[in-house]
Amino acid sequence: MAQVIFDDALSALKRLPECAADMCVTSPPYYNLRDYGIECQVGTEKTPEEYIKRLVDIFHEVKRVLKDDGTLWIVIADSYAGSGKGRNKSGKTGLLNNKKQVSNTGSHTGTLIKTTATNCKSKDLIGIPWLLALSLRDDGWYLRSDIIWDKSGNVFPESVKDRCTKSHEYIFMLAKSQKYYYDAEAIKEPVAESSLKRAQYGWHGKGVNNSGNYAGLPQTNKMGTRFVKPSGRNKRDVWHINTHSYSKGHYAAYPPELIRPCIKAGSRARGIVLDPFLGSGTTALVALQEGRDYIGIELQKEYEPLIYERIGNAVEQADSKQYVCVSGKGDKKI
Ligand SMILES: C[S@@+](CC[C@H](N)C(=O)[O-])C[C@H]1O[C@@H](n2cnc3c(N)ncnc32)[C@H](O)[C@@H]1O
Repeated sequence: MAQVIFDDALSALKRLPECAADMCVTSPPYYNLRDYGIECQVGTEKTPEEYIKRLVDIFHEVKRVLKDDGTLWIVIADSYAGSGKGRNKSGKTGLLNNKKQVSNTGSHTGTLIKTTATNCKSKDLIGIPWLLALSLRDDGWYLRSDIIWDKSGNVFPESVKDRCTKSHEYIFMLAKSQKYYYDAEAIKEPVAESSLKRAQYGWHGKGVNNSGNYAGLPQTNKMGTRFVKPSGRNKRDVWHINTHSYSKGHYAAYPPELIRPCIKAGSRARGIVLDPFLGSGTTALVALQEGRDYIGIELQKEYEPLIYERIGNAVEQADSKQYVCVSGKGDKKI
């Protein structure tokens, strides 16, 4: 059964049974980026250590809810200490003028807050993604992959002149157990023409001659055909995906194409995909498109119409199953 629960992630997860989901893909609120003035919100902790501890506790509960062969995929970005262009004069976190910022699409985008970090000087990169990944590993997760989300195709320009423009985020893939479900075939990539040629001629060559032909000796071992298959190659860990603005009401939605491979590799058909920070419902949308079910958790009830709109459209295209959304007021069929 697919469902959306509007509640704090930790409280909601505690009510879910063990082994209820096949995999989890999510993007937690980034550290000290925005303050919505909502009790229980993640991201406004006073220090990175408190933020990481909070996430480790939430993902500990995710581990209980995942099947033993389940995986967790976390999209996470870094922050710089001392940034926070919209900070208030006292330097405290909180809403500017007691008002939420509202985007041009009418959604609440929260208030930019000052990024504080013990052990960091102003301007230091805090290293949030790796602090989280290593803490999760300490908590028993198997840390299996640090995928780079390369956003350089259309990343928002920064005004900095003393470092490179940040154009990547991390996707960490972690597993509950040493052996886990991972469908490499489902996310194979096309093989480059040059690799196919190289495989054909072997690796002993001296490179390509002026006429573009391989000048090497014939292949004497099976390396080429063993590792390079015309049907596709194992997916690489740098993913070039443009950001997109799902501008209808959530400032931080991730692109569906970013998490599609995670869902395809991490769950079987009709498996259940969990997202404890559902936001605008991208995870639920892609799960439905890929023939999976989902359990989504979101603190902000104001996203409910947005989520229903996205899921509703996907349900129309999917089969005739009933999807039930659990809100504070009880079950709602859509
Ligand atoms: C980065 S956004 C997720 C965006 C989502 N991936 C999408 O595509 O729309 C993080 C979400 O976590 C929610 N959130 C913050 N604190 C939470 C909490 N304690 N429990 C559940 N959700 C929370 C925020 O309201 C926000 O919608």
